[in-house]
Amino acid sequence: MQDSFKRKIDYLRISLTDRCNLRCRYCMPAQGVKKFSHRDILSFEEIERVIRVCRELGFTKFRFTGGEPLVRRGVMDFLEQLPPGDWYLTTNLAVDGLDLDRLNRLPLAGLNVSCDSLKPDRYRWITRLGELSAFLQNLAGVRSDNLKINAVVMKGFNEDEIEDFIDFGERHRATVRFIEKMDFASGGPGFSSLSEIKKQLITRGIIEPEGKQIRNSVSSYHDLKGRAGKVGFITPVSRHFCPTCSKIRLKANGEIKLCVFAAENFNLRDLLRSEPEDGVIRDRLAELIARKPFRPEGPRTKETMAEIGG
Ligand code: GTP
Ligand code: 5AD
Ligand code: SF4
Repeated sequence: MQDSFKRKIDYLRISLTDRCNLRCRYCMPAQGVKKFSHRDILSFEEIERVIRVCRELGFTKFRFTGGEPLVRRGVMDFLEQLPPGDWYLTTNLAVDGLDLDRLNRLPLAGLNVSCDSLKPDRYRWITRLGELSAFLQNLAGVRSDNLKINAVVMKGFNEDEIEDFIDFGERHRATVRFIEKMDFASGGPGFSSLSEIKKQLITRGIIEPEGKQIRNSVSSYHDLKGRAGKVGFITPVSRHFCPTCSKIRLKANGEIKLCVFAAENFNLRDLLRSEPEDGVIRDRLAELIARKPFRPEGPRTKETMAEIGG
């Protein structure tokens, strides 16, 4: 369906949990965050209902996020039984004891994995709890035709790893996407603008100068020069993508978030638990989508990214 600015809203990001096995410095404080209580978390049945209603409203793309979605109990059972559709997953892939055969059999159209450094000491430092070797081992066992590696680029932290990441992506037949750090209620190294990094890659003949925009993606993509593959740039800070925004978010506690930066959320959980008619849920969602702001406005959220789901 369209919002009041004639943007087609058809992409729902679904946070399955606010919990995470890591504590990335730009995402969470060291002690983690106050967790949602069990009764406040939507059940899988409730999530399925939101998906069903969103599909009736014309949503076609669904991405599961966290925290870390793969730490939620029962997540594989849930993902396994999804009907055919455009399902995507964003994971840190550093979860211990991951059943990779099961992961590879999920009906997913794409898998995005997060990794901000290819140097073990840096990876450990930025995630506070993670081991690069665990991520690499899982990555080696992942089979996906649509694999993307997300790397948040930060001042003085990993700006010297750009080309290493590009080579790494090529070796793993994955598309590396560099991301500008957004300022949320957390810390971490400083912001690094991607426009200069992109310019240098073009000047040095590593990527083609022309960028491509793909519908329903916040990333612009540049082909690698003289080799297969491409590199993505996600620039929420230096170049906003509000005019083409196509998404809303469902938090693990059943709140709807119309804009990632907004402080105000809308509780859908109580309605899901009191209202038997899907039509009422659908009308409420349609009403909320119509209220989606054109750009961030009003007070900024104090939530962490872990709670929002990226
Ligand atoms: P694709 O569907 O593969 O394009 O993935 P995606 O970029 O939609 O999802 P992913 O979970 O990989 O997120 C990548 C980065 O984009 C994260 O840092 C997100 O926080 C950021 N991002 C995604 N959507 C938005 C948005 O609407 N606004 C802003 N500012 N950032 C976003
Ligand atoms: N700025 C930019 N990207 C972020 N992510 C988490 N926090 C931030 C932030 N403050 C990224 C993760 C993951 C995706 C879901 O969001 O690294 O790749
Ligand atoms: Fe966990 Fe992702 Fe946040 Fe890192 S960025 S702490 S992996 S939710």
